Amino acid sequence: MEKYYNQLIENNKEWVASKTKVDPEYFKRLANGQQPPILWIGCADSRVPANEIIGAQPGEVFVHRNIANMVIHTDMSMLSVLDYAVNVLKVKHIIVCGHYGCGGVAAAMTNKHFGLIDNWIRHIKDVYRFHHEELNYIKDEKARLNRFIELNVVEQVNDLAKTSIIQSAWEKDQKIHIHGWVYDVADGFVKDLGINLTDNNSLQDVYQLEI
Ligand code: CO
Repeated sequence: MEKYYNQLIENNKEWVASKTKVDPEYFKRLANGQQPPILWIGCADSRVPANEIIGAQPGEVFVHRNIANMVIHTDMSMLSVLDYAVNVLKVKHIIVCGHYGCGGVAAAMTNKHFGLIDNWIRHIKDVYRFHHEELNYIKDEKARLNRFIELNVVEQVNDLAKTSIIQSAWEKDQKIHIHGWVYDVADGFVKDLGINLTDNNSLQDVYQLEI
């Protein structure tokens, strides 16, 4: 165990050496600041490393991850990341990326009691409730979970668009595209769900803020 841990420090030294060998100014440039074009909201799952799966370099992606890539309107951490990304970094794209085989979404499909996390998972159960007719119709459990995972991403994209942060930016004519993806841990490919929100017109009337 200690050997594994110590190796991490060694790996870091090797990584620094490999970067500075190609470009001696690499870290000096990064130290000057960041202007990432992308905000990534993904699952905390260890198999879905944001930068790696899209071939992005340090400085390209501002990242927020939590269990089941949720956008919960009372989550101060998510809201702070979103506010900073939109109003300071001026990101152009926000990607909500779920993934097939998501344990958080799978847990939401059961009646099991897990502990404190039940309170987080309850928000995912709400997504099931909104879409229960479509989901209950799918008899194969794996297919139902896959669709639930997709629908959860769609709901989180919409929940992002409902925030005052995003709607204020759109009102000021700041171009922000919000996308919904699902990553397949079994083959590495991303599926673009084809949602691309650039204004609040597709939101139900009650969510459209007069800003
Ligand atoms: Co997950």
